[in-house]
Amino acid sequence: MRHRGSILLVDDEEKILKALGRALRDAGHEVLETTSAREGQRLLAERTFDLFIVDNVMPEKSGLDLIRDYVAATPEGERAQALMMTAHATIESAIEAMKLGALDYLQKPFEIDELLMVVRRALDHQRLRTEYRYLRSERDEQFDHYGIIGRSRVMEELIRRAERVAATKSTVLITGETGTGKELVARAIHNRSAQRDMPLIKVNCAAIPESLLESELFGHVRGAFTGAMATKKGKFALADGGTIFLDEIGTMSPALQSKLLRVLQEREFEPLGAERTERVDVRVIAASNRDLRQMVAEGKFQEDLFYRLNVIPIELPPLRERREDIPALVDHFVRKHAQRTGRRIDRVDDGVRAALQQYDWPGNVRELENTIERAVVLAEGPVITARAVSVVGVAAPQTTGLPSLRLRQNIEWVERETIRRALESARGVKKDAAELMGISQRALSYYLAKYRID
Ligand SMILES: Nc1ncnc2c1ncn2[C@@H]1O[C@H](COP(=O)(O)OP(=O)(O)OP(=O)(O)O)[C@@H](O)[C@H]1O
Ligand SMILES: [Mg+2]
Repeated sequence: MRHRGSILLVDDEEKILKALGRALRDAGHEVLETTSAREGQRLLAERTFDLFIVDNVMPEKSGLDLIRDYVAATPEGERAQALMMTAHATIESAIEAMKLGALDYLQKPFEIDELLMVVRRALDHQRLRTEYRYLRSERDEQFDHYGIIGRSRVMEELIRRAERVAATKSTVLITGETGTGKELVARAIHNRSAQRDMPLIKVNCAAIPESLLESELFGHVRGAFTGAMATKKGKFALADGGTIFLDEIGTMSPALQSKLLRVLQEREFEPLGAERTERVDVRVIAASNRDLRQMVAEGKFQEDLFYRLNVIPIELPPLRERREDIPALVDHFVRKHAQRTGRRIDRVDDGVRAALQQYDWPGNVRELENTIERAVVLAEGPVITARAVSVVGVAAPQTTGLPSLRLRQNIEWVERETIRRALESARGVKKDAAELMGISQRALSYYLAKYRID
């Protein structure tokens, strides 16, 4: 049965404790019980619960004191719900507990049904509170930095620079390894600029065949070349008044580089086959994962163009050089994908966090996001454990004989191969294959779809 809430139960009377624990478990909850108030306090400090239920009168520490210390030690947004059980004689303490933030109390003796109802209400309350917190933090982030997570010194500086440049119309050159967030920053700059209501047009120079790129950028008139059946506007014309984002600029051919240079210098160009010259007013943001300066030195990129583009340079450091950002990114992606998939994830196991922090992330933030997305899908409960992550290679090096470097570089290959072999050994029976790999059938289906394995 899928559990409905995680509950800590503290009562010094063993019999009562066992009976209540059983009833709550029968109702589908995950329950931890202890007869010791101190032990209860320790558990509350170490783990995350949705709810804790305490008896008031206990030898080591009263329930009220336990709640009081807990409230003092835990930030409001992270607190579990609290319920106090109390006999008539100590009803005052129950009221006191509610003043401290406990949602309700149970007056002894009570029926199991009453307990279940109060617990259900407390859990609903907790869920709403969690959801509200997510929504609020998401909103803060959007207002904050247009979704750019990262509070490391370099990222803070970079965001400030992006904000400053957004206020101008200067040309920006964003460089950084793959997956470091170049496009994200380009969009943030546009969205913060005075031209935010005008178009942001993206051209991926690497994705368009060289022969078509010119017409894509500058447009063409009918009959300009074989197949030019109609006049077509180019991306520069479409971006007029707004921003054009030239991605992977390092792949542009020398001929086009010269044409682009002219646009940057004169703000004008001719569509292919056209007699007339068009003028545009656009901000150019270019991005590259290659070192353009080096390409200039090697004669592969025009020096003039480089200087025209490099007016405001923004360099995105690789994730392994700003590991302080990893925890916030992990939390952000867990939240994002838990929400998208409708799954409830409360936390990431400490060991997994440490592994994520140490990994080198050759694919940078994109790779981290993909890893978290899979982990959220594969998680078998509200905690992301090594099991959900090890499949994708982060924690795997310790558990396999393969050299870790190779494994990391071939994460997808390893996944596909593992699944293929498991299916082979299981003679195609999915249930058995999933069992062999120690993953759920749901997780297996996810991989089958991902790798299009039949
Ligand atoms: N600082 C960040 N905060 C939140 N999300 C980020 C951050 N950096 C990158 N991402 C996310 O990671 C993914 C990759 O980012 P993006 O596409 O901007 O990278 P890129 O540098 O353009 O990569 P490529 O060179 O491969 O095109 C996107 O989903 C983006 O939203
Ligand atoms: Mg990109």
